[in-house]
Amino acid sequence: MENRGKFIVFEGTDGSGKSTQLKQLAKYLRGKGVACTLTHEPTDSPFGGILRACLTGRIDTDERAIAALFAADRLDHITNGVNGILRQLDAGITVLCDRYYFSSLAYNGGAVSAEWVAQLNAPAMALLRADLTVFLDLPPEESMKRVSRRGETERYESLENLRRVRDAYFAAFERYGAGENIAVIRSEEDRDRTQAAIRREVAKVFGGKL
Ligand code: TYD
Repeated sequence: MENRGKFIVFEGTDGSGKSTQLKQLAKYLRGKGVACTLTHEPTDSPFGGILRACLTGRIDTDERAIAALFAADRLDHITNGVNGILRQLDAGITVLCDRYYFSSLAYNGGAVSAEWVAQLNAPAMALLRADLTVFLDLPPEESMKRVSRRGETERYESLENLRRVRDAYFAAFERYGAGENIAVIRSEEDRDRTQAAIRREVAKVFGGKL
């Protein structure tokens, strides 16, 4: 469909600068006359609310329950009849999404079986693959510095975890990324350079017409 919106996903370890780059990209695209919306996972729906409570430790639960909740949150995000991603794309709106199923494959396949996490996400993969997945890559040591500067500590943030998650991302791209458009972009200290590299990839998705 010619005027269907594009689905562009950002992935990366914590502190990789995804949200800043996403916002900058949205501004750029709107300036070019592209209707676009920003969204993220975990979402702001009730599913996402439970997940955030799990991530901050307010709810202490099992890793399998968390993995299943992420998959449920994602399915609702895709299919919701009010503001779901498919609906937006069909309306010609480009959707920029902070994290998608590769986050589950990278983060949630450690404590529980990676195969099982992949199975949980199979419906999402069948429903909607991204036109472009940007992986913002940042060495774990650098990532740690940025995260501690922000003064945040969440469940997954430690040097060892960052390394594990980054490795798991690359493993997931190998294993489940066949036929997908995945761009690994180095998250540089100079944000504008990073943004320029992202825009080059995004332009390709729009057939160079930006
Ligand atoms: P978020 O506040 O979005 O972090 P960030 O701004 O760093 O992206 O928190 C999301 C956390 O949830 C992050 O640590 C990764 C984790 N996560 C999963 O474990 N599985 C998933 O499927 C998703 C989407 C996120």
